[in-house]
Amino acid sequence: MLDKTVYGWWKSAVFYQIYPKSFLDSDGDGIGDIPGILSRLDYLSKLGVDGVWLSPVFASPQADNGYDISDYREIWPPYGTMEDMDRLIAEAKKRGISVIMDLVLNHTSDEHPWFREALKGRDNPYHDYYVWRDGKPGCPPNDMRACFGGSAWEYVPELHQYYFHQYAVKQPDLNWDNPEVRRELYHMIRFWVDRGVEGFRLDVIDSVAKEPDKKITARGPKLHEYIRELSASAFPEPGLVTVGEAWSADTEEATRWSAPDGSELSMVFQFEHICLDQGGEKWDTVPLSLPRLKRCFERWQRELHGRGWNSLFLDNHDLPRVVSRWGDDGRYRVESAKCLAAMLHGMEGTPYVYQGEEIGMTNAPLGLDEYEDLETVNMIAERRERGYPDGDILASARARSRDNARTPMQWDDSPNAGFTAGTPWFKVNENFREVNVKAAMEDPDSVFYFYQRLIALRKTCPVFRDGEFTLLLPEDEALFVYTRETDAERLLVVCNMSGEEREFDLPAGFESAATLIANYPGAVGVLRPWEARILYVGGRT
Ligand code: NOJ
Repeated sequence: MLDKTVYGWWKSAVFYQIYPKSFLDSDGDGIGDIPGILSRLDYLSKLGVDGVWLSPVFASPQADNGYDISDYREIWPPYGTMEDMDRLIAEAKKRGISVIMDLVLNHTSDEHPWFREALKGRDNPYHDYYVWRDGKPGCPPNDMRACFGGSAWEYVPELHQYYFHQYAVKQPDLNWDNPEVRRELYHMIRFWVDRGVEGFRLDVIDSVAKEPDKKITARGPKLHEYIRELSASAFPEPGLVTVGEAWSADTEEATRWSAPDGSELSMVFQFEHICLDQGGEKWDTVPLSLPRLKRCFERWQRELHGRGWNSLFLDNHDLPRVVSRWGDDGRYRVESAKCLAAMLHGMEGTPYVYQGEEIGMTNAPLGLDEYEDLETVNMIAERRERGYPDGDILASARARSRDNARTPMQWDDSPNAGFTAGTPWFKVNENFREVNVKAAMEDPDSVFYFYQRLIALRKTCPVFRDGEFTLLLPEDEALFVYTRETDAERLLVVCNMSGEEREFDLPAGFESAATLIANYPGAVGVLRPWEARILYVGGRT
């Protein structure tokens, strides 16, 4: 087991993300819950992960599935009680699994008592907890748009003022320039550390130092000052792991955020690779260029090596399922899910596995009236208004909607995929009879066991943590090949990211290398569709 009091333990770790609403319902109300998670800790142990990141479980009106918090110190009742949470932390710890909570520090719910107070008047002490500008109805302070559509300003007639919200109207932005706000947040974080939480994922942390008058949201001038203060005040223990969500991150910024002196965060989630198949708007897809993807990863690998720390992920609750997106969720679902996993887990950084990824769950073929996510629902309404044909809107939603990742976890082939004995809050993907945990457990060649082996390998060979990355065949349109090297060990990761056979010659020094893991039997020859292999040589040759 890793010694989690030591700074940097997370460099050898693998985390698993749980979206609680869709993980497992224990009481039949159709909503996943903490007792459900508790009952699957042994499953997570079997997978071999060192920590679970829980998407928000705090009290919330659920306008954005919990990313709208009305009380940071309470659990949302359908998820369970504080006792359930304490039990989860303790039981997970017994299995060597750290609980990482999701901190939404950029905004609260409009139902948070701070905002309710803020609405009472400009003189109320909580008024300045949020970002207000004077104005008249119909004339917002500027033309800034909210990420979920519409203006970023909402008028409150009683105050003759607008408040700023980067996300939904029900998610007013906190004013980090007010030191009281920051102090309250640090205090709240310590409440969770005292309960045994061992780390945090920081929602849109690059946005907290916003300056809306200058139309600045991400990477405001005071951002690093605020993050350093947050880190010193709320995360003094060297063992606490922190990962900031930062859509604006480039390698230079990420190096500062994840500086090895620990003055800011452990690592950030960056999204450069994720945006490579995006056209004009988020909803418009362009084909992924493999050479561009490789160059992007190469840059992150090279520039953070020794200077910062990467997080590694392809899936999360905001993204379509990667096996549908960049793999093949039809004929080669299993092979391509494994290939994408090998491609990612061979790199330097801390891998994150999103619930269902470890069994190769796919996008959901929903109808236009079945989407739940407010971002998708708003997009459908907006695009209809703009005259887009329904067929095009549906194609965009099916390819890009966050709901693809939010359908209930597929546990078995019983009704509702074993997720609930009641009526699920959200439709179960109809492929659950084939794609489910029970089937994966019974098949030694399943995606699950491939992930299990990859996760174990990271613990066994230090080169996964320390090795220097070199990209081979940068222009190849189908093969993603790279090496990782330390003085003592060498890895060769070979992935055929296509449904066609491909010729491949082993690079010098790997002729008699051992195969650590592969998704096809036999030795390296012509690479079969979505074939992936990781080869190992102990010591430089
Ligand atoms: C990022 C979260 O991952 C997403 O789910 C949420 O909607 C926004 N931040 C707003 O909190």
